[in-house]
Amino acid sequence: MREHLVAYFEAHHKLVESGALNLLLAQSQPLILSRQVVEVAGAENPFVTQEMVERALSIHGAIMGPRALRPATDAPMGYDRSRAAPASVPYALVAEGFNPGPGGREPLEAYGTLFQSRYRALSRILKGRPELSNLRPVRELRSTEGASAVIGMVREVHETSEKHHVVLTVEDETGSLEVLVLRGSPPARATYLVDEVVGLKIAFPREPGRLPKVLAVERPEMPPGRSQRRSERTSRVLFLSDTHVGSRSFLSDAWGMLADFLKEKGPEPELAREVEHVVIAGDLVDGIGIYPNQERDLAIGDIFEQYGEFGKRLRELPSRLNIVVLPGNHDAVCPAEPQPALPEAITSRLPENVRAVGNPSTFALEGVVVEAYHGRSFDDLIPALPGASYARPTDVMKRMLAMRHLAPMYGGRTPLAPLPRDGLVIDPAPDILVTGHAHTYGVDQYRGVLLLNASTWQAETEYQRMRNISPVPAHAALVNLSDLTLRTLDFSGATPAIGSRAA
Ligand SMILES: [Fe+2]
Ligand SMILES: [Fe+2]
Repeated sequence: MREHLVAYFEAHHKLVESGALNLLLAQSQPLILSRQVVEVAGAENPFVTQEMVERALSIHGAIMGPRALRPATDAPMGYDRSRAAPASVPYALVAEGFNPGPGGREPLEAYGTLFQSRYRALSRILKGRPELSNLRPVRELRSTEGASAVIGMVREVHETSEKHHVVLTVEDETGSLEVLVLRGSPPARATYLVDEVVGLKIAFPREPGRLPKVLAVERPEMPPGRSQRRSERTSRVLFLSDTHVGSRSFLSDAWGMLADFLKEKGPEPELAREVEHVVIAGDLVDGIGIYPNQERDLAIGDIFEQYGEFGKRLRELPSRLNIVVLPGNHDAVCPAEPQPALPEAITSRLPENVRAVGNPSTFALEGVVVEAYHGRSFDDLIPALPGASYARPTDVMKRMLAMRHLAPMYGGRTPLAPLPRDGLVIDPAPDILVTGHAHTYGVDQYRGVLLLNASTWQAETEYQRMRNISPVPAHAALVNLSDLTLRTLDFSGATPAIGSRAA
């Protein structure tokens, strides 16, 4: 019966979460009920959650048995537990616009726990800095003390109307505090982002009623002077992103050139021979219903067929490669971050040398620590940071490293999952940070971290033209793990171009 149900939902282009499946199986007529569930889910939603089954049951007038009353503690299929520790969070919370599922907590409480986890993780990094001497919880600050320091999460940022100073509201676990950042002063140099965690050195003015002044700001940052880990032998990893298989604009010829290069049929076969790993940073397929009128841009209109085609493309690469794939906002997993790894219903269509991980994920390749994140938060960070642009995503990545957080801003375009542990904190410090999403190619260094934005295999779409995004497609970054030197591979022309060795 289990297989019948999975096949039934597959035929309706839906993935069924394990809790939903178990609940259906506990009913006397699961197939009849499944029809109702498909209606409840609606045509747009690629998922079937336990909450949908419960809704269908209430419509159906069925009486739920004791198995059905269990709290929804099943994680979504393939969830990257190591990263997100979601065991006590009902999936319904994540998938259903954060409605609490049965047995679930109220969303605000869940977000409170998420922010508390972020605050604790980042304040641990900030504590003990000499610049933050006389560090106090907000409740214990004394205006008579002169200079003190606090570690707070920025909850509000506004500018005074006359003199354009910045007033910050920061919060710790004991209370909140308003502070003044004088225009033109050193702590005013970098924009403050809502929900980032900062350490502030502050001074209370002598006049009562005035706001404490910020003398200096400390961000969690990458530790200075750290040395990058290296592999003991030469091993190369190829970083790709945003393949968007299934789109009409998928660059099939360029992909063919990449496959030929890796099969040692292109230039520098001895270089290709040393490639052992491939990392693809999300938007593996184009997906369905991701933006208005997307169907016009699709060559394959079925999500499972898109992954079938993606699997075919990966089979064109040598089978000896270790391929790591993470989802992006176009992939068929819950969009709230951290996103789970692709479920079995999808990975079963991919070759055996593919390892699906969550977004973001931290993993070591030959001892070199890679932080891989699709990059959805660029959509929030770029508008918020003066001078930032999609053309230079590595500038934004530097800021992520300074904040030690991949997507701090809540309530914007990056949906955040209300998990008990903030899985978007950057810890441990990586040697390589790779992102995609911006569809451009960028390489930079920041405090001992190699930064990569790993291009795309999709030509410009009408939608991107509308949004003023000009892609730099069909590029790949080839990194030697023994010395972290990089070669840029460019397959966007008629013949492949292999860049010279660069640090
Ligand atoms: Fe993309
Ligand atoms: Fe994306």
